[in-house]
Amino acid sequence: MTKKRVAVLISGRGSNMAALVWMADAEPDFPAEIVLVLSNKPDAKGLDFARKSGIPTVVVPSKAYGKDRAAFDAAMQAELEKAGVEIVCLAGFMRLLTPEFCEKWAGRMVNIHPALLPSFKGLDTHARALAEGVKFHGCTTHFVTPGMDEGPIILQAAVPVLDDDTEETLAERVLAEEHRIYPETIRLLASGRLVVEGRRVRVKSAG
Ligand code: GAR
Repeated sequence: MTKKRVAVLISGRGSNMAALVWMADAEPDFPAEIVLVLSNKPDAKGLDFARKSGIPTVVVPSKAYGKDRAAFDAAMQAELEKAGVEIVCLAGFMRLLTPEFCEKWAGRMVNIHPALLPSFKGLDTHARALAEGVKFHGCTTHFVTPGMDEGPIILQAAVPVLDDDTEETLAERVLAEEHRIYPETIRLLASGRLVVEGRRVRVKSAG
């Protein structure tokens, strides 16, 4: 089996990236390998974990590009091509990507979002879920399209919202589910088991 070459794009803590690395390491049959961790922030905490794990890292500092999103995306594209990347995972990557970049990676770029999309797109999802009084919250993996948090949904996991939840306790419960569904998403994508039909994503049976 040839493993798909995956880049994980981060901006901060990198716990979802770490979950992907652990899964890829722990399972000899995992159909993907993490060949690059790319951060747009030089001080992203996740970079330390990647370096300690022996994974090549690169920083493309978004600050240096100011408002020129096309130039920033082109710099990222060059790094991805250099590393022979086949699948891109956004994992807490807090930058909007140009439509051109999204087009280039259509069907091969996924994101994880800390809410049950299409509810609570954007930022501060846990605080907003609490403020709305929803009884279930969760996380979503989806293909990336130019619209923010809008692409076809791959997997979701729901958690109950408890009466005494704070933003922190709710975030923690959701994060545990993120660490479960993101590796599963990559397993399905890398083994060619995801079929996109309009906005619906079907999972083909294995074998
Ligand atoms: C995660 O909760 C992820 O779902 C969220 O940022 C966090 C990153 O944590 N992503 C977004 O909000 C994207 N819109 P991590 O760096 O520990 O994986």
